Amino acid sequence: MADAASQRAKVAIFISGSGTNMAALLYASLLDDSAYEVVLVASNKADAGGLEIAAAEGVETFVHSHKGHSREAHDAAMEDALIESGAQYLVLAGYMRILSDEFVRRWEGRILNIHPSLLPKYKGLDTYARAIAAGDSHAGASVHVVTPELDAGEVLAQARVAIREGETPETLAGRVKFAEHQLYPRAVADYVSRGLNPDYLLGRVSELALALPETHSRESHGAPGFRVGSEKAGKFFAYFSDRHHGSEHIALLVKTSGMDEMLGLIEAQPDVYFKPAFYGASGWIGLILNRADVDWTHVEEWLMRSWRSVAPARITKLQDAADMF
Ligand code: GRF
Repeated sequence: MADAASQRAKVAIFISGSGTNMAALLYASLLDDSAYEVVLVASNKADAGGLEIAAAEGVETFVHSHKGHSREAHDAAMEDALIESGAQYLVLAGYMRILSDEFVRRWEGRILNIHPSLLPKYKGLDTYARAIAAGDSHAGASVHVVTPELDAGEVLAQARVAIREGETPETLAGRVKFAEHQLYPRAVADYVSRGLNPDYLLGRVSELALALPETHSRESHGAPGFRVGSEKAGKFFAYFSDRHHGSEHIALLVKTSGMDEMLGLIEAQPDVYFKPAFYGASGWIGLILNRADVDWTHVEEWLMRSWRSVAPARITKLQDAADMF
């Protein structure tokens, strides 16, 4: 078993300015039990203040000016440094360049940004002045997932800051910064470790299971379960097990064709599958979810297969007909 330090997520940070958020992220990462480590701080500006701070802490730094380069060429140089660093996530902290759509797609779900407003309000620039002019009671900051559309990805966390009488954009900006420095390290830590968070895993499983026709959720022996058919006569096709019955795994239990298949799968891929207590005896297999790199398409396929194996013919026939088109 690898020790905690080697399991930390590797994070790169891109900056253009003073880098105070970068510093907050970096110093948080140096505390015991941090969920992430900073492996690179990169900038498009050689004079970005944060570069020296990072270097002083022994963090790799990289500078590549955008001047005289196309967006694609500049992005490519930054991405090379990112890949070279071994980073799994890219955290933008005042990086004043828009990344190309291709870059963002390649890193889909792995780029975070902090924006100084309570999104969806005030995307873009001049957020403080706009919040004051609108007479808002609060301004704040939002951490969001970066998607090709500017400041529009899923909001992960927000910090609120009261707008005082006589506030100017400058005074407000100063306090929002303090709030950002609290918010960002925590939001990054939560995001990189969400694959171990049962609420997050159950949310993803529920979304996939309940997208199948005529399904509903029903608790079974204290564990969330998913059934197909009517509320009255439905049948279970999946269970979510959060370290249930003394297991170390957070897992999805789905139905195999029987003991032979189940044992064969477990033998071939013991990191992916296990035989769950009680349910294993009747051919249910455990698909381990609290591990790195869960393939959610694979989870979806298992749910579909398990659903199909217990769904009434009336429903599967409809599904077969729909699949033909
Ligand atoms: C922050 O206000 C952040 O919300 C925005 O850029 C600013 C970066 O500030 N995206 P700093 O360089 O971290 O001090």
